[in-house]
Amino acid sequence: MCNCCDVGSDGRQASGGDFFAAPSVPVAYRQYLEPVVFEPWAERLVELVGISPGDTVLDVASGTGTVARAAARRAGSGGRVIATDLSQAMLDQLPRESTSSGSPVVDSAAARIETRQCPATELSVDDRSVDVALCQQGLPFVPDKKAAAAEMRRVLRPGGRLGVAVWLSTPRLEPFIHYGDALAAHGVPEPFPGAYDSTPLTMTEDEMREVLASGGFTGVQITTDSLEVDWPEADWAAAAMAGTPYGPVVASLDPALRGEVVDDVRARMASADGSAARHRTTSLLAVARVV
Ligand SMILES: C[S@@+](CC[C@H](N)C(=O)[O-])C[C@H]1O[C@@H](n2cnc3c(N)ncnc32)[C@H](O)[C@@H]1O
Repeated sequence: MCNCCDVGSDGRQASGGDFFAAPSVPVAYRQYLEPVVFEPWAERLVELVGISPGDTVLDVASGTGTVARAAARRAGSGGRVIATDLSQAMLDQLPRESTSSGSPVVDSAAARIETRQCPATELSVDDRSVDVALCQQGLPFVPDKKAAAAEMRRVLRPGGRLGVAVWLSTPRLEPFIHYGDALAAHGVPEPFPGAYDSTPLTMTEDEMREVLASGGFTGVQITTDSLEVDWPEADWAAAAMAGTPYGPVVASLDPALRGEVVDDVRARMASADGSAARHRTTSLLAVARVV
């Protein structure tokens, strides 16, 4: 039984309902993926780009606001942070409260974040109005990546900084590859081309250079960096599948097959002693300054 989400060995939630039968991708993303996989990368990205008190910061494809919150803490009360995403449902999960003390308290940095639902290729943001534009693990999802780069260039002021993070294209993208492996092992057809080799979630360094150059960025510096994912427990890592594009795929399966797939994912996410396996994530980090 999973302590974090009450997902039983049959993939059903202990108290009320079948967790994987009707997962809310945004809720599961916020609850299981964001704190473990995405927050550590958000801290690394904002450190790399550098955000000063008073900066106006734009977070493109912000999702549940991972990067926006890290930026808001640095920009301070004199700064401004705008989080944009194609999905209003993801933006709706941007937590305005912190519960680390046990009882909810208003997170003053998060409370100041403005949210705007818009595609990365049509940002609802004025020309030359932001000091820093950030985009973490969003670019691969955008059909016209060059248009998205040009939009980020449009809204940056002279002297403004860009920071983009994208999973590096590798044959096996941890931890997501295990979800695809489990679905493939049970004969579930790929929901979209390349879904089970994770390629659509990644970019190569050459692609990144070409996309940013075509958007009008010069002097782009790209580094490759890695972080270990420390899942609190194997069941947490399994539950996180509900926060990915695989979540609705699992939901569409009949209950018996769904239970088998969830059991398989759980087993793949555990090491020999039953604790959570460690996964290495590797990102391309691109920074540029507008002259
Ligand atoms: C993997 S999540 C990353 C979210 C966030 N940046 C983070 O680091 O936690 C990818 C996000 O891209 C958004 N997205 C997908 N296509 C998009 C588009 N064309 N324009 C803007 N956002 C898009 C999704 O809604 C999702 O929130």
